[in-house]
Amino acid sequence: MSDLWSAPTTPEQVIDRANVLFTTQALLTANRMGVFQALGKEGRKDAAALAKEVKADARALSMLADALAGLGYLTKDAKGRYANSLIARKHLVSGGEGAYLGDYLRFQDLLWEPWGKLEDAVRSGRSTRPADMYQTNQDETRRFIRAMHSTASLNDPFLAARLDLGGRHTLADVGGGPGTFAIHFAKQYPELRATVLDLPGTLEVTKEIVSEEPSVKERITLKPCDFSRDDLGGPYDVALVSHIIHGHDDHRVQSLLMKLRDALSPNGLLLVHDFFTESQKTVPAFASLFALNMLISTDGGRTWSFDELKQVLEGLGYRDVEWKRLGQPRGLSVVSAVSPRMDDKPAKQAPASSESSLRPRRPPLQ
Ligand SMILES: C[S@@+](CC[C@H](N)C(=O)[O-])C[C@H]1O[C@@H](n2cnc3c(N)ncnc32)[C@H](O)[C@@H]1O
Repeated sequence: MSDLWSAPTTPEQVIDRANVLFTTQALLTANRMGVFQALGKEGRKDAAALAKEVKADARALSMLADALAGLGYLTKDAKGRYANSLIARKHLVSGGEGAYLGDYLRFQDLLWEPWGKLEDAVRSGRSTRPADMYQTNQDETRRFIRAMHSTASLNDPFLAARLDLGGRHTLADVGGGPGTFAIHFAKQYPELRATVLDLPGTLEVTKEIVSEEPSVKERITLKPCDFSRDDLGGPYDVALVSHIIHGHDDHRVQSLLMKLRDALSPNGLLLVHDFFTESQKTVPAFASLFALNMLISTDGGRTWSFDELKQVLEGLGYRDVEWKRLGQPRGLSVVSAVSPRMDDKPAKQAPASSESSLRPRRPPLQ
């Protein structure tokens, strides 16, 4: 099949794209049932043995395994025995040599039903699952934060190597989730001390992840904080806001950026890492689709264009706003800005120019 994110040019490509749901559900189901884990790194099992291990019907399991072999997640030998393919051995078996993605797939499971109700969301303008940032239930919190760790483990070493934090000593990783960014920046910059600010339920998971990093854990502090209402601490030389602004309504985003302006040292560096779109909001296609993901799962979240964010940042007194496209997957990129010098800091209030367009749809949750 052709690249998923490019415009279809034939009717067959339209059909292929509609059939992607088969692929997704086969992959999520195999992961959920433990098929990749059961085959492990060296395993080679026929359908009967595999079905016994994952407690499934042998005939049905053989259909699933054949499909997965056709898709390249498994291999099948002449004796009908299945094994994990190289990519599955590396990324779908925990403890493999690559970043483990099984947690990411377990998190995607949570989105299947809400996406099935997309029509309801589009008609009502409301989410189709609780807009609770996965904080109501510890199993969901764990899946959410472990999923963020899975993707960040691929992405963060790359970002930490490309963003220059030289000469900066304190980093706030705001809504830092698993703390993966804080870990990689601390590894890259031995002088840096990082504070991960996040909700208490999330930090339970962060604690486990950071404790597995003996070389940097002493330089990483976990600060329980609801950034909608708590003090952020500081001053910080750098504030990283990764995958945060898409999850909240415009009013909350603006208040967070204003709080950060005040929590940053003069000439502090703000890094907003997200799925930004061009001004038309249609490309990159993944970023536009991701806005729908926020529609079904948050209260007022969306994706932002660079122009929209630049306008808000400049209205708040930030300067040198730049869009850094570093060649990351799915259109991920970074918008950087410099906080005002001490004598330039505007009064602590939202700029009048952008206030009307940034009025909350509903009062902020308390
Ligand atoms: C999509 S995750 C991003 C995690 C991490 N920054 C990354 O890029 O991998 C969003 C994070 O924001 C946190 N979060 C959401 N609302 C928050 C709030 N009001 N205060 C603090 N953290 C919040 C969540 O707990 C979660 O860790």
